[in-house]
Formats: sequence, C-alpha cells, structure tokens
Amino acid sequence: MKRNIVASPMLQEARKYEREHMLSPEVRPAFHLTPAVGWMNDPNGFSFYNGEYHLFYQYFPFDVKWGPMHWGHAVTDDFLHWKYLPAAIAPDAPEDNIGCFSGGAVTAPDGRLALIYTGVSGTDEDVTQNQCLAVWNGSDYEKKGVVIDGMSLPEGFSRKDFRDPKVTWDGRRYHMTAVSRAADGCGQMLRFSSMDLVHWNYEGIAAHNKDARYGIMWECAEELRISGRDLFIISGQNMHAIGKEFFAGDHAFYCFADETKDGFVHARNLDYGFDFYATQTLRIEDGRVVMLAWMHNWDNEFQPVSQEWNGQMTVPRELEVRNGRLYQRPVRELDAFRNAGIHRQGWRVSGLQSLAGVSGRVLDLALTLSGTDYQIFTLHLAHSSEFDIAVIYDRCHQSITVDRTLDGAIRDVPTVRTFSVHSVPEHQTSADPLHIRVVLDRYSAELFVNRGAQTFTAAFYTPLEADGIAFESDGVTDVDADFYRLDL
Ligand code: FRU
Repeated sequence: MKRNIVASPMLQEARKYEREHMLSPEVRPAFHLTPAVGWMNDPNGFSFYNGEYHLFYQYFPFDVKWGPMHWGHAVTDDFLHWKYLPAAIAPDAPEDNIGCFSGGAVTAPDGRLALIYTGVSGTDEDVTQNQCLAVWNGSDYEKKGVVIDGMSLPEGFSRKDFRDPKVTWDGRRYHMTAVSRAADGCGQMLRFSSMDLVHWNYEGIAAHNKDARYGIMWECAEELRISGRDLFIISGQNMHAIGKEFFAGDHAFYCFADETKDGFVHARNLDYGFDFYATQTLRIEDGRVVMLAWMHNWDNEFQPVSQEWNGQMTVPRELEVRNGRLYQRPVRELDAFRNAGIHRQGWRVSGLQSLAGVSGRVLDLALTLSGTDYQIFTLHLAHSSEFDIAVIYDRCHQSITVDRTLDGAIRDVPTVRTFSVHSVPEHQTSADPLHIRVVLDRYSAELFVNRGAQTFTAAFYTPLEADGIAFESDGVTDVDADFYRLDL
C-alpha cells in the first residue's frame, strides 16, 4: 500500500516561510544561484533528473546565518536560469535532528531521484554523523533513515566527523565517497559501494591527509575521472599557508590520484580567491564535467546588513585536464547571452583609461595583455570615485593581486590576496601575453587566468551604482579586449 507521506510540520514551515519571503530577482545576482531566502552554503545533490539539472543546497531559510540545515532546491536547464522548488528536506527525523548536512543525489534503481546526505543527530555537545537516504515519491523526499552507520566503520574512525557523501552510478553499481576523521585527527576520504543505495560495503581509504599537510579535517571530497586521469577534489579545513600556493584557512584543492603514492603530497589549489569552497561536480550527457562551489568561505562572514540572502554559488564551470593540470571555464551556455560586444585589438593602454561603452556589473570581459614595456597593469571593476575592485597584474613578478579593500564592506575580512601566475604552455615567461577572462555578476567576480589554468573567485557587495571599468598601465600595455554585457 502506498504510504501517504505528508511533509513534516518543520518542512511545511520552511516552505511557507520561503513562499512568503521569496526574494525578488532584482536583489540577487543575475545568474548565480542564491538561496530562495536566508542562508546558503554548500552545493548538494547536483544531478540530472526528469530532463532538468537539479541543484540542492545547504539552507537555513529563516535567517542570513547558518542554522539547522535544510536542503534548498532549484532546477535549471542551462546552469544559468534557476527555478526555485520548495525546500526538499528539513532536520525533522531522529537521524538528522541536528541537521541535514551535505550530500549527493543520484537516480535510484527504480528511476526515482534519491538524496544521500549526512544526518547529524544527538545533542549539540555530542553529535553523531551518519549517511542517510531520502527518495522522491512524486510529491516529497521520503526519508528512509540511516544507510551507513558510523559505528560500522573501522576502529578509531570518528563518529562525529563522517560526512558529505557523494554518489555516482557507473552502470553496474553505485559508488560513494565520504569524508571522515582518522584516528590521528586528520581528514580522510573513504570509499563505499552499493547495488541498491540501501546496503553499502566499505571499500577502504581513498586518500588520507598525512601529517595534516592539507588542512586538518576534510570536507566535500569526491573522486572523478577527466580525460583519462583520476583525480580527487577535496575541501580542507584549517589549512596553514604553503608558499604562495595556499593561504591559511579553508580551501578547495585537487590532486591527481597517481601523484598520491606516498601519502597525499601534491595538492594544487583549485581557486586562489577569497570565496570558493565545498565543490560538487556532475558529469552531464555530452561528457562535460561541470563543477560549482559555494562562492563564500567560513572565514569571510560579511554582507550588507540590509541584504536578505547570504551565500551564492559560483558560475558552473566546465573542467578539463590539459598539460597535466585542471582547467576551468564558465559553462559554454553563458556565451549565448553575450551581446554584440565591444572589441579592441592592439589598444595601447598607458595611465588610467576607460573604453566608451565598457561598464556594468553583469558582464564577460576577456583581455590579452602583451608587451614588455610595463610592469603593472590594473583592471578596475565595480569602480567609482568611492569604490573599486582592483585586479593587479605584476608582469615582472608574475603575480596577480586582487584588492577589494574599497568594496564597501564594514567588516574586517581579508581584502588583498596575491597568487603567482604559473608557467603553462600558453604563458611561459613574463614576456608572454597573459590572458585573463572576468565574469562579473553584480556581487562577484570570477577570474579565469590563462584560459582557466588558474582561477580566482571574489564576492563583494559594492553598491550596484559603482559600475565603472577602467584599465591602467604604469608603462604601455598592448591590450586586446573583448567586452560583452550579459543579457540573461
Ligand atoms: C562544508 C560543510 C560540510 C557540511 C556542511 C554543513 O562547508 O562544513 O562538511 O556537511 O558544510 O552545513
């Protein structure tokens, strides 16, 4: 007999709240996903089901702060236009009374969408994390309880830190990765497999954060194969700085599986910016691997007091492995929303200059900077007499600094960050042209350096009136510029 499942009072309350307080598109970015209302962190359950891409997210509708975690829900068919669906799950069951933490989604054997998430239960002082299942029943996600109990893990593995299941189907069986804290206190990535999403076999440790080299605990880890290379993508908590590659704090990084023979020793930064954490990927039908991340960071707690949403996702990015490294680019669907554009070739920039018609806060701008007759080239974004986001290329030192000191914030969060430009085949020395693409969407800038060999993501909440763009060189820089407004 079919059970008549009715959403719990807690889920109904969340849905009622989001219906009554749903924010209007004008107060949001144009194409980056924000919460229906309130707080958002990690992307969850990125999946394709019933002809649409589904994205769930860590969600607390009632405030702009993190709170008992629900899963928000949105769908899209182009990764850029999002439609909100009612909140999917709430922390309303004994196995998730503290929160429904991050997880994945996959089509179940019977063809329904299944959510696999971390149920956090117990009391705030004494929590347990287990992996749980909820399955779409046509009107709601029906909770099926715990499917991997932390108690079943080997001796010494933490019961408090065991979370963030990511599930894929290989045509024969389901595979899960989840993070856990090992007996030495460091993060590790575990593997599980299943035929039915209910019974899971523990398959061992995929990677371990030896000597706490990359953070302490790990979060939101997954394994994937791109262009024949196996790689891990992991978010590390509490990293210490490593040269100019990693800053202190929480970071997402990646590592090729065949470079991890002797422990986890060769991680590379996935994004050098202030606001990029907790990634999730999806392989789509045409073979592309699309990744997005929470465009925020636990350490950067700031936003204008009047803003009724907190947290946004990055633009979904296509991943590719070339030249032994990962490249990222915004999904190609974005190209369709470019206007005719303004194009300049061999424009000689010296001093501070602007280009007629080049301004705005929703745009796509690609620059190629050539010549050796300058040291510093600066691109000014969200610029006015009062505000500025500066992208500063130091050609001689091969570094890029992003300075958001003048973004209008009133909290003292990191505002200046510098990273080294890596040598890649398309840019080997300081004499070679630098290619940089900037995607701006009202409250963020995403930089793709040398066709996505390195990226930098920054959120900022500068008033929208500051929409100037300026170009500045301390010598003469030869600039090729392709500027497009994005009309979405
Ligand atoms: C990462 C994270 C996850 C956890 C979730 C809780 O940002 O800490 O490990 O599942 O956020 O909201």
